[in-house]
Amino acid sequence: MKNPEATGKESGLQDRFGRQITYLRLSLTEHCNFRCQYCSPAEGTPYFDREDHLSGPEAQRLLRIFRGLGLQHLRLTGGEPLIHPRVVETVQYGVGLGIGKVSLSTNGYLLDRFAADLQAAGLNSLNVSLDTLDPERFRVITRGGSLKRVLMGIEKARSVGIPRIKLNAVLMRGKHEEDILQLVDFAQKRNLDIRFIEAMPLGTAGTTTQDSSYLSAVEAREILERNAGTLFPIASSRDQGPARLYRFANGSSQIGFITPISDNFCASCNRVRLTATGRLVYCLGQEQGMDLLPLLRNASVGDEEIAATIRAGVWADKPEQHAFLQDRERSSRIFMMRLGG
Ligand code: GTP
Ligand code: 5AD
Ligand code: SF4
Repeated sequence: MKNPEATGKESGLQDRFGRQITYLRLSLTEHCNFRCQYCSPAEGTPYFDREDHLSGPEAQRLLRIFRGLGLQHLRLTGGEPLIHPRVVETVQYGVGLGIGKVSLSTNGYLLDRFAADLQAAGLNSLNVSLDTLDPERFRVITRGGSLKRVLMGIEKARSVGIPRIKLNAVLMRGKHEEDILQLVDFAQKRNLDIRFIEAMPLGTAGTTTQDSSYLSAVEAREILERNAGTLFPIASSRDQGPARLYRFANGSSQIGFITPISDNFCASCNRVRLTATGRLVYCLGQEQGMDLLPLLRNASVGDEEIAATIRAGVWADKPEQHAFLQDRERSSRIFMMRLGG
């Protein structure tokens, strides 16, 4: 494959492995109002170095540059994106740039307050974390979160007409096996899609969860099929993201499984990440990436040069796949809360 820098002609983003990068996950903040067992240490957001964060204009400039590089999908993440003051404005800005799809992943706690504004800003789709419908277990998993508020948020998002709402449940052994059936029932009754996610050993929290309560998507599917009937695969679902999608014969909801551990999907990867501090990270399994702040703050560097640097970085440094399990030491230093999943 030809290096795009060699010709200078290609406008899109591509890597050495033939993948076209059209999807950006922008983390607005590394802070979160929950402390989920599989994501956060018990004491809360880890203390990250006091790096500078992207300003509003800097974030908007990068979005314009990415748009010029062929961005088709922008997902806002965190930490928890709804605690960030510019969240609605950023959705609006992305939509205004003509990015085909602007979406957001949230824990749902503040959704009741923001759903109408997000809808008005043009949000195309919303992913909400929901691991259980048992208030006490919810409180334990999130270390203090209120299930009631999240459910209110989901209802609000439905009622204001946010187009596509998907639920995310991280798979855990034990009581969660009962939750799986209840969650699918909840989703189906409301016409929502739901995805079950294999826990990734990222950060100290993720590493512990992976060791102590890892449940594979294969087992989760068996639980569902044993109790609720055959799941029928939806053709070519991998083209729409990392989830493999199914549905029950009589159900309208899509039921997805995201299998970073048991069935690697890196070959179809189309995404990069941008942290709240302006670091471009090419893969969820990568610690460093490239710091874009110095370029943004250098008055003699123009958009063209930043675009060329991003293109060269993706080409040179996006790995073929993650090595979550092979390099546990490195995985324990990667924080989901910084990279936004
Ligand atoms: P859509 O497919 O666009 O709905 O988004 P998504 O499912 O990728 O986004 P979401 O934020 O809901 O993430 C769901 C789960 O997928 C989280 O656990 C993410 O960490 C995980 N995930 C998202 N992208 C990747 C990826 O590129 N690699 C891996 N290994 N996991 C990912
Ligand atoms: N493994 C898998 N998924 C995780 N998430 C957070 N931490 C992990 C982990 N260690 C999920 C959240 C949220 C999404 C953005 O990432 O549950 O739904
Ligand atoms: Fe892409 Fe890395 Fe995720 Fe694999 S782990 S799908 S290469 S971001």
